[in-house]
Amino acid sequence: MDGRVCLVTGGNAGIGEATAAGLARQGADVSIVSRDAARGEAAAARIKAATGRRVQVIPGDLGSLAGVRALAERVHDALPRLHVLVNNAGLLATERRETPDGFELTFGVNHLAPFLLTNLLLDRLVESGTARVVNVSSALYARGALDFEDLQMEKGFDGFKAYARSKMCNVLFTRELARRLEGRGATANSLHPGVVRTGLADDAKGLVGRGMRLVKPLLTSPAKGARTSIHLAASHDVATVSGAYFVNCKPRKVTRYARKPEHARLLWTVSERLTGLI
Ligand SMILES: NC(=O)c1ccc[n+]([C@@H]2O[C@H](COP(=O)([O-])OP(=O)(O)OC[C@H]3O[C@@H](n4cnc5c(N)ncnc54)[C@H](OP(=O)(O)O)[C@@H]3O)[C@@H](O)[C@H]2O)c1
Repeated sequence: MDGRVCLVTGGNAGIGEATAAGLARQGADVSIVSRDAARGEAAAARIKAATGRRVQVIPGDLGSLAGVRALAERVHDALPRLHVLVNNAGLLATERRETPDGFELTFGVNHLAPFLLTNLLLDRLVESGTARVVNVSSALYARGALDFEDLQMEKGFDGFKAYARSKMCNVLFTRELARRLEGRGATANSLHPGVVRTGLADDAKGLVGRGMRLVKPLLTSPAKGARTSIHLAASHDVATVSGAYFVNCKPRKVTRYARKPEHARLLWTVSERLTGLI
């Protein structure tokens, strides 16, 4: 990975931090996005201690469209070249909240933010030559058939369902992005990292929160959870693979719903409108 420039969102904790460390260990020039400067610098110090490599922290809040646009500008200024974008940041919210733009928070942070960020960085990625976009989804995507009439889940909010739908968005976004990148020397793939011991469900309330906290000690380590992200970002084996979904570093067929191109295209068009790209 010598000379490869990588950007990892949510790189200040959990799977993202482990992904950044793994890529740095392979010689990449890694930057992490963190919405909190102190948490970002603390992660950079841990990565430096573990790998001997310096990691740059780029401040960025994915919780609003303005935050994503400001982040994209900072990335353009800080990174004249960009080879790998790992859209890893995400959350699970058990109560319905809205972003300042009026989007349901899970949909906004887990889908619209990486959608907009990727599109704003696409030229930089493509001009770098052999670029890769890696989208961290979840196996729960399979339970997240979308309701295009109610993407903001205004009716009958269910945090678990909102999370599953946002992860379906990650898979559909990846497939449509891969289609649009054909012939441009760049790839896009998504993945399930495993069930990993991180802070993802620490604030979750109700049954989901209690269940996650109960099983947390038994879960996979962040280092193992980062393996598939690192594989997709770095391995020669997947240099030309695009539009696929990976589990344990291997491609896995997605559900019939996720394979329908009309779902991916519709989500793309709606997301373009919601993020102000068109
Ligand atoms: N853990 C699992 O079992 C599991 C399973 C399947 C998929 N995943 C996916 O893996 C990815 C990483 O999650 P994780 O398990 O490592 O959880 P985590 O430890 O909670 O890390 C999530 C990261 O996302 C960042 N983030 C959240 N909201 C943000 C915002 N508005 N702006 C910028 N950054 C924001 C967090 O930053 P802060 O520290 O500032 O909050 C943190 O760095 C997520 O996409 C998640 O859906 C996880």
